[in-house]
Amino acid sequence: MDRKNFIKSCGFACIGGTAMAAVFQSCTTVKILSGQITGDDLIVPVTDFETRAGNEKYFKKYIVVQNDLLQYPICVYRFNENEYAALWMRCTHQGAELQVFGDKLQCPAHGSEFSNKGVVQNGPADNTLRTFPVTIEKNQLKISLKAI
Ligand code: FES
Repeated sequence: MDRKNFIKSCGFACIGGTAMAAVFQSCTTVKILSGQITGDDLIVPVTDFETRAGNEKYFKKYIVVQNDLLQYPICVYRFNENEYAALWMRCTHQGAELQVFGDKLQCPAHGSEFSNKGVVQNGPADNTLRTFPVTIEKNQLKISLKAI
């Protein structure tokens, strides 16, 4: 193989690898769980974060919770057993529903990006996402929805 063909085939391999990574990422489905609302709180069992591979127990980084009474879903990130963040999946730019990709939330409307704590990473949005206080009680997360 001469130099020109070698470079050409490497280029196709790189493009193919990038395309496959994009396909795999877009195939990742986000399971939306339905949360129960009790009083002012959205209740999420801590076990909703658990997942298993063989005998090993792992924890999902985040889950997305929806309830018919909520206009937008809430993305709940788990940082450790005592630290969670509940983010309103409503873009602060013009109100489109956000999509979650790993540690980021992205807006399909104009491309704003937010961190897993709701901080703007890329505009045009310039305000952080609305967050809700999370308390842990009896193996359940209580996400306070006061003043939605
Ligand atoms: S509505 Fe989200 S970036 Fe415009």
